Amino acid sequence: MSVLFNFEKAAPRDAYRVLSSLVIPRPIAWVATLGPEKTVNLAPFSSFMGTANPPLVTLAIGRRPDGSPKDTYRNIVEQGEAVVHMADAPLLEAMHATGEEIPPGESEVERLGLKVVKSKKVKVPRLIEAPVAMECRFREEHPMGKGSTFVMLDILLAHVSEAIWDEEVRCAVSDRWSPIARLGSVAGPNYGLLGKVLSLGKSKLPGPKD
Ligand SMILES: Cc1cc2nc3c(=O)[nH]c(=O)nc-3n(C[C@H](O)[C@H](O)[C@H](O)COP(=O)(O)O)c2cc1C
Repeated sequence: MSVLFNFEKAAPRDAYRVLSSLVIPRPIAWVATLGPEKTVNLAPFSSFMGTANPPLVTLAIGRRPDGSPKDTYRNIVEQGEAVVHMADAPLLEAMHATGEEIPPGESEVERLGLKVVKSKKVKVPRLIEAPVAMECRFREEHPMGKGSTFVMLDILLAHVSEAIWDEEVRCAVSDRWSPIARLGSVAGPNYGLLGKVLSLGKSKLPGPKD
């Protein structure tokens, strides 16, 4: 037996509560942008995906309860740039704290005492402590009615901590770090870390007939 939840009739609040408990685990983009006064804004977004061809990240950015745009959205569209970080377990509390609203013009980076360094291709600085930082340029946006706007950013350059990089295979290796995932929000917000990693070779299940 299944419980049915009708998204076509659901209020946005209920749809959020249910969807965020179903589509799990979600990676979290920890996004730095520059505000109009050049203050560094930092906020997490788990409606997030990365694609390789072309190399881009997509964020779904909602609105504040009063309908006004979030700083991250406004900064990306106005300044055209962002740095998208991946946080690991030691940064969990700081990442979570940046999900709280603070007045525009105030910097989450300064407030939390996080350290930043200059980026190479964009004006937005990157967090030193994040194991992954992707320098990005605004590509396009797709408004989804009154709710979220899909924001796409081209990835120009990634900084990857040596500690998680395997030079032999030339990519990051998941068992060398502790990426954070977002789970549902009931009695939470809840986060997860990686459990057991299963490596499968060529499938042994029956394949297509040739
Ligand atoms: C782990 C986490 C994931 C989040 N994911 C999203 C998201 O995908 N979309 C969104 O609009 N807000 C998301 N939020 C809420 C924003 O981070 C929050 O509204 C933040 O204050 C926005 O900051 P800004 O106004 O500086 O951009 C998330 C919050 C947390 C803690």
